[in-house]
Amino acid sequence: MVELDLRFAEGAVSESEWRQLQPFVSDIHRRLHAGDVPGADFLGWLHLPSETLRDGIEPLLTAATAIQEQADALVVVGIGGSYLGARAALEWCLPEYFNQLPRAVRGGPEVYFAGNHLSAPALADLLRVLAGKRVCINVISKSGTTTEPAVAFRVLRAWLEEQVGPEEARRRIYVTTDRVRGALRRFAEAEGLKTFVIPDDVGGRYSVLTPVGLLPLAAAGVPVAELLEGARAAEEALATDRLDDNPAYRYAAVRNALHRKGKALEVLAFYEPALRSFAEWWKQLFGESEGKDHKGLFPASVAYTTDLHSLGQFIQEGARNLFETVITLDHPGESVSLPAVAGVEDGLAYLAGRDLSWINDQARIATQLAHADGGVPNLRIRVADRSARSLGELFYFFELACAVSGLLLGVNPFDQPGVEAYKTNMFALLGKPGYESAQAALRARLEE
Ligand code: PA5
Repeated sequence: MVELDLRFAEGAVSESEWRQLQPFVSDIHRRLHAGDVPGADFLGWLHLPSETLRDGIEPLLTAATAIQEQADALVVVGIGGSYLGARAALEWCLPEYFNQLPRAVRGGPEVYFAGNHLSAPALADLLRVLAGKRVCINVISKSGTTTEPAVAFRVLRAWLEEQVGPEEARRRIYVTTDRVRGALRRFAEAEGLKTFVIPDDVGGRYSVLTPVGLLPLAAAGVPVAELLEGARAAEEALATDRLDDNPAYRYAAVRNALHRKGKALEVLAFYEPALRSFAEWWKQLFGESEGKDHKGLFPASVAYTTDLHSLGQFIQEGARNLFETVITLDHPGESVSLPAVAGVEDGLAYLAGRDLSWINDQARIATQLAHADGGVPNLRIRVADRSARSLGELFYFFELACAVSGLLLGVNPFDQPGVEAYKTNMFALLGKPGYESAQAALRARLEE
């Protein structure tokens, strides 16, 4: 199970500082499980792993097998919570460069992500990469109205229809959306497309263990039952309110205590490139859940040791308003030992025969010591390995920690009202019907 190591944070936050939050955590725990918290309509994630395993995932696995048979490449169209979890899990569970590996090694189709930006060059490049491939599309949008995926889907669908004709295109499009609402639901029904439902009571950033994440992951060859099993184990292990026994609550309490002592940023650090997209998922989870009412820790991330040659300088000696949370894998899973090479003066003879993962871990310990000594408290979250099961545990760990952390902060961790402001302006500038007066006001401001 995921463990929390506070050794390199002890100088910055004492045990009594986070322990005094126990009554508040206990109260939040009770109310969370009773459905008595702000945003209580979105607590479906709390028992999602056990309920999904109980109900079974056969329809999803059948569709995933069909995609594997139909496609050389799967395009996952979605933004925010509708793609970050799948991308995180793909990169965590599958080998680096998986799209470049032979199909027999990879298992599933190549996987590409679209609809998470409005970039014409990126979308045009994707179409070039897809040329000549058998393509399936999984379009994912809970609301069914989000501009970025809707734009990309329109382009990709037209392209697919051109390639294979409308009838075959219909067989190759999989829609993951709300049970009844939204334009995508209406479209899927009108066209008779295969659909999967995002439960009403699960918000986007908590949806990785619904078909949002599970369908593309299963199609790509990730063992989704193991992912769910890991999350279910965490659901069970983290069902206690006791800080001593619940590392997710301890993590929430410690970061709350650090925030109260003036820390404004939390930097998630990791030492395996396979965790890059996991950090993006984590940033969205905490950023959208906590950053409201002019409150919250700003979630950032660094990829080490790469960023030790970049942001590492700032973290060591810059403004002292941050702390780090370092994710480590007990078993990174590969072995690359440094060869002994005679006659080469690269100064590495003393490391000959050493494993690169051991060297990486010495860099991690050295950095934690240096950063803690430099005034950057370091929390460490230990995960067993890169298995789907371990990732399932970690997804649930952070979802729970984030909910409790947001509630400790006094915000609703399940809404995101702030994302509407840019949308209103964008719709006005784009000339969407109904936004005429907003458009006139914005144009006048811009011309001032
Ligand atoms: O966490 C969230 O709710 C958001 O990030 C959404 O996932 C994101 O805005 C995409 O929304 P939708 O799935 O409705 O297209």
